[in-house]
Amino acid sequence: MAKKRVAYFYHHDIGNYYYGPGHPMKPHRLKMTHNLLLTYGLYKKMDVYRQHWASREEMTQFHSQEYVDFLQKVSPDNVRKELNEVTSKFNVGESTDCPVFDGLFDYCSAYTGATLDGARMLNHNLKDICINWAGGLHHAKKNEASGFCYVNDIVLGILELLKHHSRVLYIDIDIHHGDGVEEAFYVTDRVMTCSFHKHGDFFPGTGDIKHIGRGAGKYFSVNVPLDEGMDDESFAYIFKPVIQNIMQRFDPGAIVLQCGADSLTGDRLGCFNLTLKGHAQCVKFVKSFGVPLLVLGGGGYTIKNVARLWTFETSVLVGEEIANQIPYNDYYEQFKQNKYMLHLSPTDQANKNTREMLDRTLNHVLQNLSYLRGAPSVQVQEVPPDYPSNTDGDINDARDVDMSGAQADKSGALSSARQHPGEYYEGPKDQDK
Ligand code: FE2
Repeated sequence: MAKKRVAYFYHHDIGNYYYGPGHPMKPHRLKMTHNLLLTYGLYKKMDVYRQHWASREEMTQFHSQEYVDFLQKVSPDNVRKELNEVTSKFNVGESTDCPVFDGLFDYCSAYTGATLDGARMLNHNLKDICINWAGGLHHAKKNEASGFCYVNDIVLGILELLKHHSRVLYIDIDIHHGDGVEEAFYVTDRVMTCSFHKHGDFFPGTGDIKHIGRGAGKYFSVNVPLDEGMDDESFAYIFKPVIQNIMQRFDPGAIVLQCGADSLTGDRLGCFNLTLKGHAQCVKFVKSFGVPLLVLGGGGYTIKNVARLWTFETSVLVGEEIANQIPYNDYYEQFKQNKYMLHLSPTDQANKNTREMLDRTLNHVLQNLSYLRGAPSVQVQEVPPDYPSNTDGDINDARDVDMSGAQADKSGALSSARQHPGEYYEGPKDQDK
C-alpha cells in the first residue's frame, strides 16, 4: 500500500488538564501517548502540528449559544455560587460525571480545534489521514455535556467535512455507543453513523439495533450491539462485513473513525477483551479503502494501555512496523507490568458473544443496509468558508494557524508555519512519506 500523507495534532498543554481526583478520564494519557510514539520515532513519518484553538463561534455550529457561553464562563470558583442553577441544566458539575475544572473551555477548544484542522486539511486534499488522539468526545450533546464529553468535536468535524463532501461515514469502536454523533445526524442521509458497542445495562444505554435513523436518515444510523468479552476474532467477524457493505452502498467521500481505547482488554471501565492488534485491525481495514480519513481518540481508562494502543495505531496509519519492546521513554516504568512490551495478551474472560448471536446481529444489520438505494447525492452549490463569516476576536487568533490559506498556498510555507515548533525534530524529514 502506498505511503499516506499523515498529519498528527498535538498540543503540549493537553495532558495537563485534570478532571479531578479519582476521575477516570485522564488527559495525561495523551502526553504518555505522544511521548511513546516519539520515542518510537513515528514523528518522522508524519507531519506534526499544533492545532488552532476552536472559537466559541466554531463550537456553536453545533452547540447552542447558551451552552457554549456557559462553558466559557464556568470555573471551579463560580460553579457553586452564581452558576449553581444552570449546572444541572447542562449536566455539568459535582453531581455528574462531567466536572468543572480549571481550563475546561481551553481543553474543549484544543481538542476541537485539532479535529477541525484535520477536517480542513482533508477538505483541501493536503493530507490523506489526520490524527487527533485528544478528540473523539462522542457523548456531548447540542445543549449538554455527557459521559466526560463537553464539546462534540466529532459532530463539528463532520459538519466541516460536509462542506466539501456529499457523504461522510462515521465509525465508532469505543466500547460505549456513539450517541451524541448519532443523535446529531439521525435524520440526514448525508452522514452514516456506525457504532460497535457493548449494549445492555451499560452507559449511555442507547444504541439498540432497532435504532436506524428517521425520515431521510432512515437506515443511515447503524448500531451493532455487542456483549462482554468481545475478542479479536469476533470483532473482525462482524466489523469487516458491516464496513465493507457500508462502503459499497454509501460510498463516502470522507471517513471519521473514533478509536476509543476502552474496548481494549483490561480497561478500567470496559468489559471487552480486544488486544492492540484486534483493535488496530479495524483501523487498518478502514485505511485500506483509501478514502480521506480523520482518526480520533475517545474513551480509554487504563492509561498505559491507551498509550500503547494509540501509538500502535499511529504506526499502522503511517505504515511503519514498530518493535514489541518498548523503547525507553518518560513513562517507562508504567509499562513494567507487561515486561515493557507493547502488545497485550487477551485474558481468559469468557466471550459472551456466541457465533449465533453475532450472525443474528450481522444479518439484521446487513438486511437494513440492503434497503439503501444507492448513495445519495447532494448538489453543493457554494462551498462555505472554512470559518464562519460572522467573525469575532477569536477568529483572528484562529487565522494564525488556520487551513484556509491552504488553497492558495500548498507549498511548504503553510506546513512549516504550522508545524509544532520543533523540540522533537532531528532534522530534515525522511523523503519516503
Ligand atoms: Fe467510551
